Amino acid sequence: MPGAEEFVPSGARLPGLREAVQGCRGCGLYRDATQAVFGAGPETAKVVVIGEQPGDQEDRRGEPFIGPAGGMLDRALAEVGIRRDAVYVTNTTKHFKFERTSGKRRIHRKPSQAEVDACRPWLDAELRVVAPRLVICLGATAAQAMLGTSFRVTKERGTVLDLPDRDAHVLATIHPSAILRSEDREAMYQGFVADLRVAARALR
Ligand code: URA
Ligand code: SF4
Repeated sequence: MPGAEEFVPSGARLPGLREAVQGCRGCGLYRDATQAVFGAGPETAKVVVIGEQPGDQEDRRGEPFIGPAGGMLDRALAEVGIRRDAVYVTNTTKHFKFERTSGKRRIHRKPSQAEVDACRPWLDAELRVVAPRLVICLGATAAQAMLGTSFRVTKERGTVLDLPDRDAHVLATIHPSAILRSEDREAMYQGFVADLRVAARALR
């Protein structure tokens, strides 16, 4: 796997990066996906939210977090007073990884560590350009990408930590898709909101 490095235009801002990502062949995930889904939001955002990878609807429409998980994220951010349009939202990998069920439905498959590593130069470029004060990691894939593979979301969620190698803070929480899959949605959702409230307080 060559990695994305050679596809990332050096010194580019968000529009240049967003254009270039469509040509990325840094790992095999571009082959089956419809398109790359780059991050979205203002370059001036104080907060960057990192998910795992685009889902089915994101793959079709080319925008991150516009499906069911995105709806839940929007609702929770509104509840803690973080303006969604002031947040930059992105993912650890930019192409949708999936398998088809017999009914032709496309179900999400977790990206491998090698794919996350291959895609990392895009995320680093986004963080360089946006230079947020706070990074919110949704779920283990994002949290481990930012905080190391020994990081455990279940144990260390909801706390503001220093982001390694950057002048920013980081907070990890669960992924909204996990809430959607859960038997006890309401309790999990309340936990998610509680973590985001800690993040909102850190921004004051
Ligand atoms: N889940 C993610 O992690 N990212 C998206 O963009 C959509 C769903
Ligand atoms: Fe490139 Fe990332 Fe897509 Fe792999 S997932 S092809 S590294 S943009």
